[in-house]
Amino acid sequence: MKLTIIGSGYVGLTTGACFAKVGHHVICVDSNPKKIETLLAGQIPIYEPGLEEIVKQTVASGRLKFTTSTEEGVDFADIVFIAVPTPPNPDGSVDLRFIEKVARDIAAVIKSYKVIVDKSTVPVKTGEKVAETIRRYAPAIEFDVVSNPEFLREGSAVADLLDPDRIVIGSNSPRAIALMQELYAPFVAPVLVTDINSAELIKHAANSFLALKISYINHLSAICDAAGADVEKVAEGMGMDKRIGRAFLNAGLGYGGSCFPKDLAAFTTISNQLGVPFNLLREVHNINTAQLERFIKTIRDSLWVLQEKKLAVWGLSFKPHTDDVRSSVAVELIRSLVAEGAQVTATDPKGMDSFRAFEPELAAKITMVEDPLAAVEGAEALVVATEWPEYGEVDLAEVKSRLVAPLVFDGRNLLDPATMKEMGFTYHCIGRNHIMKS
Ligand code: UGA
Repeated sequence: MKLTIIGSGYVGLTTGACFAKVGHHVICVDSNPKKIETLLAGQIPIYEPGLEEIVKQTVASGRLKFTTSTEEGVDFADIVFIAVPTPPNPDGSVDLRFIEKVARDIAAVIKSYKVIVDKSTVPVKTGEKVAETIRRYAPAIEFDVVSNPEFLREGSAVADLLDPDRIVIGSNSPRAIALMQELYAPFVAPVLVTDINSAELIKHAANSFLALKISYINHLSAICDAAGADVEKVAEGMGMDKRIGRAFLNAGLGYGGSCFPKDLAAFTTISNQLGVPFNLLREVHNINTAQLERFIKTIRDSLWVLQEKKLAVWGLSFKPHTDDVRSSVAVELIRSLVAEGAQVTATDPKGMDSFRAFEPELAAKITMVEDPLAAVEGAEALVVATEWPEYGEVDLAEVKSRLVAPLVFDGRNLLDPATMKEMGFTYHCIGRNHIMKS
């Protein structure tokens, strides 16, 4: 089939490349000519495992093309995806101006029946607004609007797209549903067909529920520390119940990234607007904030004064296997340490360039090094902020010898408490601190 993706960012590019990989013909549109130039030159503006190869293959096969022209894209396709950013407003609601603009752009060039698919994460009822907008500016043309939310995790987006848990198609039009089913025919996954509003709600409800699971285990981690229990054993025991499941019960510094904090705020706001405030989600957010504050307090309680203390921080990205530092808890942690006068030396396998780009002021206040061992050289303590697997392989004897004192704060439970104790470290972790005391 022929499809066009408007917005060649993280979601649009990955979606377009994967549709091309399974045999469809795809045009990715972006209003930023620099981005399109980069893509045409065979370069990928983001780090996502496996994506570059797929883009190269599908471009070479002629099934994936790039353009800045919405008209070219809309003329070419049967199905037009909208995959533009939906950033948060200061009050937590979603800024839908890019979606609205794309709806107007499509209306300006649409000449025959198209299925317009919203892939971006949007509040419930956005599909209705998109349809209204296109109808207003192109009253003579037939079209249908579909909500088809994405469930990609950064770092495993290609696998999530090619082998999804489910495909959600929200539409009231049998014609559009049939086309969408044909589009997804190469994928082996259950397809759930719903109305548009339900499909939009599924996305916000799923992300908020996952955030809730994380906050649940994070608050439990504090209870475990207070009671002298092991949060990992508690998570294991809970997770063995199939109704609960072990996934997303990893205690740590809390959730970050460009999706959970934003989606939770958006869902909270829309529930208020609908007259059914979802107060539970406020508590999910509060627990997430408190988790980082408690960790910083542990560092402060231990080092007493942070002013002029040299601290090594492993991790900048919001989770491993991505270079994305947007709303990263590791970055917020560094911001707090720097605000208290600490001298931070940070490292990250992939995130240092994006940290410099997104947080230039903060980046100027810290030192960055490639090697995690170089980061701990002469530091008063090591802080683990992102659980990159390679940090679990670093020679701990060497870490100990380079630190001023053998002090480690592990915000992601990456290291083994028993080993740390045996090696003579003073080791602080999340919800497993009784192991050091026993
Ligand atoms: C999330 C969802 O998992 C995707 O399904 C969704 O499509 C995507 O948002 C989106 O809305 O586009 P992502 O933001 O890439 O994906 O990251 P996750 O892997 O879900 O992790 C989010 C945060 O939760 C990270 O900061 C991670 O460190 C944290 N987390 C995750 C925990 O603290 N504990 C856990 O057990 C799991």
